[in-house]
Formats: sequence, C-alpha cells, structure tokens
Amino acid sequence: MDAAGKEEISVEDEAVDKNVFRDCTKIAFYRRQKQQLIKKSTYQAVLDSITTGQDSTRFQIVHEATKIPLMAEIYGIERNIFRLKINEEMPLKPRYEVPDVLTSKPSTVRLISCSGDSGNVVLADEKGDLKCHITAKPFKVDLVSEEEVVMSINSLGQLYFEHLQVPQKQRATKENESASVDTAKENEDDLGLWEEKFGNFVDVKANGPASIGLDFSLHGFEHLYGIPQHAESHQLKNTSDGDAYRLYNLDVYGYKIHDKMGIYGSIPYLLAHKLGKTVGIFWLNASETLVEINTEPAVEYTLTQVGPAAAKQKVRCRTDVHWMSESGIIDVFLLAGPTPSDVFRQYSQLTGTQAMPPLFSLGYHQCRWNYEDEQDVKAVDAGFDEHDIPYDVMWLDIEHTEGKRYFTWDKKRFPNPKRMQELLRSKKRKLVVISDPHIKTDPDYSVYAKAKEQGFFVKTREGADFEGICWPGLSSYLDFTNPKVREWYAGLFAFSAYQGSTDVLFIWNDMNEPSVFRGPEQTMQKNAVHHGNWEHRELHNIYGFYQQMATAEGLIQRSKGKERPFVLTRSFFAGSQKYGAVWTGDNTADWSYLRISIPMLLTLSITGISFCGADVGGFIGNPEAELLVRWYQAGAYQPFFRGHATMNTKRREPWLFGEEHTQLIREAIRERYTLLPYWYSLFYHAHVASQPVMRPLWVEFPDDLQTFGVEDEYMLGSALLVHPVTEPKATEVDVFLPGSDEVWYDSKTFAHWEGGRTVKIPVALDTHWEPVGA
Ligand code: NOJ
Repeated sequence: MDAAGKEEISVEDEAVDKNVFRDCTKIAFYRRQKQQLIKKSTYQAVLDSITTGQDSTRFQIVHEATKIPLMAEIYGIERNIFRLKINEEMPLKPRYEVPDVLTSKPSTVRLISCSGDSGNVVLADEKGDLKCHITAKPFKVDLVSEEEVVMSINSLGQLYFEHLQVPQKQRATKENESASVDTAKENEDDLGLWEEKFGNFVDVKANGPASIGLDFSLHGFEHLYGIPQHAESHQLKNTSDGDAYRLYNLDVYGYKIHDKMGIYGSIPYLLAHKLGKTVGIFWLNASETLVEINTEPAVEYTLTQVGPAAAKQKVRCRTDVHWMSESGIIDVFLLAGPTPSDVFRQYSQLTGTQAMPPLFSLGYHQCRWNYEDEQDVKAVDAGFDEHDIPYDVMWLDIEHTEGKRYFTWDKKRFPNPKRMQELLRSKKRKLVVISDPHIKTDPDYSVYAKAKEQGFFVKTREGADFEGICWPGLSSYLDFTNPKVREWYAGLFAFSAYQGSTDVLFIWNDMNEPSVFRGPEQTMQKNAVHHGNWEHRELHNIYGFYQQMATAEGLIQRSKGKERPFVLTRSFFAGSQKYGAVWTGDNTADWSYLRISIPMLLTLSITGISFCGADVGGFIGNPEAELLVRWYQAGAYQPFFRGHATMNTKRREPWLFGEEHTQLIREAIRERYTLLPYWYSLFYHAHVASQPVMRPLWVEFPDDLQTFGVEDEYMLGSALLVHPVTEPKATEVDVFLPGSDEVWYDSKTFAHWEGGRTVKIPVALDTHWEPVGA
C-alpha cells in the first residue's frame, strides 16, 4: 500500500465525524425554501391555458408575486399512475431531466376533462376510476380514487421553483457598483445563491439558485416507508425542523444508526399504507434532495351545538410529505395502488424489475479486506472444505491490484490469477474482484492513459480533468454518465482486455458515491462538469447507478449475452435493481447494527432492490463469537449473504471460534443452501412479477394494523416468517404471528399456533430463528 492509502485508512478508522457532513441548517437551498415559504405567496393555475395533447394535459401556473409562468403537464399512465411535471415555461437554458431511469417511455392513457366548474377542472382516464381535480386558486391538485381523495398536491402551498437567472458576473457589469452591493452580497452568501461555503470548500454555482419543492398530503395515512438509504427504522419517522431525511450519496464509514443523514445510495420513492389502500410517490430527481414528513393524528372532537345532543366528528389523520431538491425539474409519479402488490408492479413498470441473479450468487460469499495472496485464497478455500461448510464465492478487495489500478493484479501476491480461478472453478466456485470508479493518475497505466486521451474523465469547471484523492492516491473519475464512456468501460471486461480474468470472475463496484477523500463531505465538488456540460450537482445521486449499469453490460457482453452478470454496488439510485445487488456499506460489529440491518433491507426491498444484504459479522471491529453466530443465522435469511471485515480486524473465517461455534455457523450456512430453490423461485417471482423477496409483514398482511410497525421480523416470500435473534444472551424471543385465520408451523419442530397473537419462543444459541411456514 502506498503512502496516500495508509494515511486515508487511518482517517477512516475513526468513528464517523458528523462535522464532515452537512445537516439541513448547513444546506443553502433548504434555508432559502424555508425562508421563502414563511411568506406564504401562492401559485395559481391558469385554466384557460389548458391544452390536451396525445400524451398529456398542459397548463400554466403563475406565481402571485413574480408572475413568471411555470408549465405543468399531467400524464395518465397505464395501470393507475399519474405523472406531474412542472418546469419553467421558458428557462434560460434546459434544466436537467433524469435520463436512463425509466425503462421505456411510459405508455400513456388519454385523459379526458370530464367536468369542472369555473375555477377547477377534473381529468380522468376513460375508465374514470382515477381522477385528478385541479383547483386554480390557489393551485392544488387532488387525486381521487374510488371516490375518495387520496392525496392532495400543493394543498399546503409549498410549491417552490427558483427560475434560472442570468449569471452573476453578467449582472454585475450591468449594475452600478454601490455601497449597497456589500450588504446584498452578504445576504446572497448566507442564502448560497451563487456561492455556498462549507468549511474550507466554496461551491461556485454556474447556474445560481435552481431549487424546487412541493408538498403532498396523504389523507388517512400515517404509515410511510421507503426513501432509502438511511440507517433508520422501516417506518418513516416524523421530521422536525432541520432534521429532514437527506438523499445525498455519501461514503460514511461506520455510519451512525437511527439517523436521517444520507449514506451511500438514494431512491427518491416512498410508499404510504393504510387499511384498504397503498399508494406511492416517486420523485424523479437526482440532485441533493430533502424530505420532510409530518403526521397529523386523527382527532375526534365534539360539536356541542349540533342537534339535540352533542355530535362527534372525526377528522382523518393525514401525513404531509415535503420534497425539496437542489436543482432539476419537478417530475413526480403518483402510484395509486390500491394494493401493495399493485404499487410494486406500478413502480417496476417505470424503473424495471430485479435482475434475475445467477444461482451461485444466492449462496454464501466469503470476503475480507483483504485476502492477502493466492496462498491465502487457497487456504481459506480449503478451510471451507475441511470444515464441511458450503460456500460459492471468494472475494478480493483493493489489495489484489497493482497499486489500486483496477483491472490489474499485484504480481507478487497474485502471480497467476488464472491458476487461482481454475482452482475455484474445479470446485464450481467463483471469484469476485473489486473495480472502483477512481482511476490512478498514472500515464503508464493503460486504463488511465486511454481514458485521458479520449476525454472520458469528469472535468473541473475550468475544463481540466477532475482530480481527487482515493485509494490509489491522486485519481481521476470516469464519467459514467457519458454513454461512450460506459461502452468503453464495458469493453474493459472482455477476456481479451482484462488480463487474468476468466468467466468465473465477477465484479464489485465500491466507492461510487463517488468517494473523494478530502472532498466536500468526502465526495465530488458539485460544480465538477459531466458529459453534456451538466454540473455534478444535477446528477450526483445517479453516478453510482451508471457505473453498475456499465459493469453489468460489460459482463453480459463478455459472455456474448449468454450468462447473467453479477455486480455488487455500494451506491445506487431508483432502477439499480436492473443491474445487480446492493449492500449496506460499512456497518459495525455491534448488536445494534445487526438489528438495524433488518429495517434497512426491508426498505431497500420495497423500493425495488430485492437483492440486498449487510456485511455479516459487521465490517468494522471484532464481533464476539455469539454475535458472529447470530449474524450468520440472520444473514442466511437475508437476500445477499456475504461475510466481510475491514483490514485491521482479527481474522474471522467461520472455523476460528471453537468447534461449538463452527458447528452453529455451519448449520446456518447449510440451512441457506437447503432453501436455495425457494430463494431462486422468489427471485424469479421478483424478476417477472415485481414482488419483493424480503417483505415487511404489512405487505403480506395489509389489513392487519398490528403489522404496520413491525421491523424485527419479516416474510420471505409468502411462506416463511423470519424472526432473527438479535439480542445477546437471549433465552426467549417474542414472535408476533399475524393473521387471525392463519395457522403457523415451526419449520423445525412442527409445533403450531393460530395467528393473531404473540408467542414466546424459548431460544438457545442453536435456535437460529423462528421461521414458521404459513
Ligand atoms: C469501502 C467498502 O465499503 C468496504 O466494503 C471495502 O472493503 C473498502 N472500501 C475497501 O475496498
């Protein structure tokens, strides 16, 4: 390892320093929106301007004070989906609209304007079960399904749209320099209009302020889920001022749990559920996004003077969701359900379904930063055979390369990579190696030289190649948003190009938020420039998505389209499910991280990413034997099942904790293999029918209120209920068995219970979990 690498590792070894990351109060567009919204000026829809085209209905919306028009478009999409787009009518230049996430142009249904008095218009599809009421003054949209107002848009008047302006410099030359300029400048600084400071970093914004926002009120709903990735509970919590859920992909080593800060990936999509109805809101925007949530509980109050006796009136509960993004346009899909499965189908109709994984990737994976050399790999591989523990995939982290130059091998440690792969192949095993997006700035490294020559790196705003520090030291970053870069990168996985690779080698994309050591919040400057002259701020959250897309394509091409790829990514966006698997990054060997893995994976699962997992054992620190055993037992029942550990931890292969513990881990892993056909079928079902593999109880029991907040147990498909043991020295666990007309069987003892109650189940260390078949 080189000097730069060493220094960075010791930085990473400290617990997460939250001062490195911004909270809402340090985010200028959040401050601006909050300040402006207090003033309560409103938008009005100009209903005379309505035109109905083949695909959409368009009309103007005008701000009361500025009078600048926005253009709204409403689309009806097949299967109960509405899409609302709001953009400037005539922006100074085009605003970023997220490409490549929608699998195809959504098939629209023609909307007809079916009634409406002056001041409002009703749009409906021909069947008429789903309607959209547009009120002109103030502008509001109500979504009506089965005669019930399910959702109102802008009913709180939080529609916010910053119009692109002439750049500051050009304005300055037009204006006279006067004494008042200084005070105006101070205000601008605080609002971060053209420049925003964070610590020593200054973000100079080419387009100035461009943020957007909108509110959605969900009537009768108080249970919301989604918007990964946060180390938080499955059910979304109410936010208070300054504590919004942040969607901004960041490398947060040892992230804190029960925190709403953004970590590695972002899916700007949430689901709301109540008895009898599930709906979804998909906010298609790849810039930094904040989401505030506020539930107003149901109230019952007495109207004393109505009729002879006092009457009681009940006001339904309501949850308000406020989305704010730094730039782009408002492009939001409203998924009207009405069942959880309908919402899953609607979302995958837009963004695609889970890629069907190759069978081997559903087995157990053995990883460590790092398996040192070929000898080490051989010994660990043999260890599994000696101890009669099944496993399918050996992993190599960054140290396998020549100085962190991806697509190369360290000649001393791995002199003969093909021989090593042949050994694995002889046992029907595979190898996964890491390939990060940063490329060492070394003119003698062919990947660097070729990318540089073709202009394939992200640029600075001055037009030079962007350079930042990562594992190899000084590096440039491939611009995966450019289709040509993706095509070229895919070609690097060809057997002829990737020396030492064979068809048993698969890929792991890491650090692709992207992680830039010593960058603002450990990532790329927002004013770096991508293909098409787009600033990084417009597309930050989709960068990692594109790397995984290109990698998967590379693996498909190298097998001439015959084999399914396997690509694990740390960073992701809506639609990443099409390209492979996701894991939850740098967790810690602590019981609390074992517990939080369940809600984190449930949230990923219902937002399309069925193939997800958490590092078994916890990446940072040294698990005691009991925790490690419990983690294997839990991990065996989670979709992506990989043991992993950081470099300065003690070795923890399954046989290093004494025979008793080896036996328990062996049993856990074997149990995974016993159920492999079930896993494979569930993934097939996710792939063809959009249903998540790992399901929160509320998805399977949508009419059972008691299930709505459960996150310590879940369903695998519709047949297995899993309740991992996540407490040290547990002697019993409380297992909630949903459904009063269900009978539940313990899959090992065949004891059975009727559903609709909680049972106490005694556990010992060899009681893995309480999966019970319904
Ligand atoms: C960070 C990843 O999260 C971790 O899993 C990996 O081992 C290190 N990078 C080194 O590549």
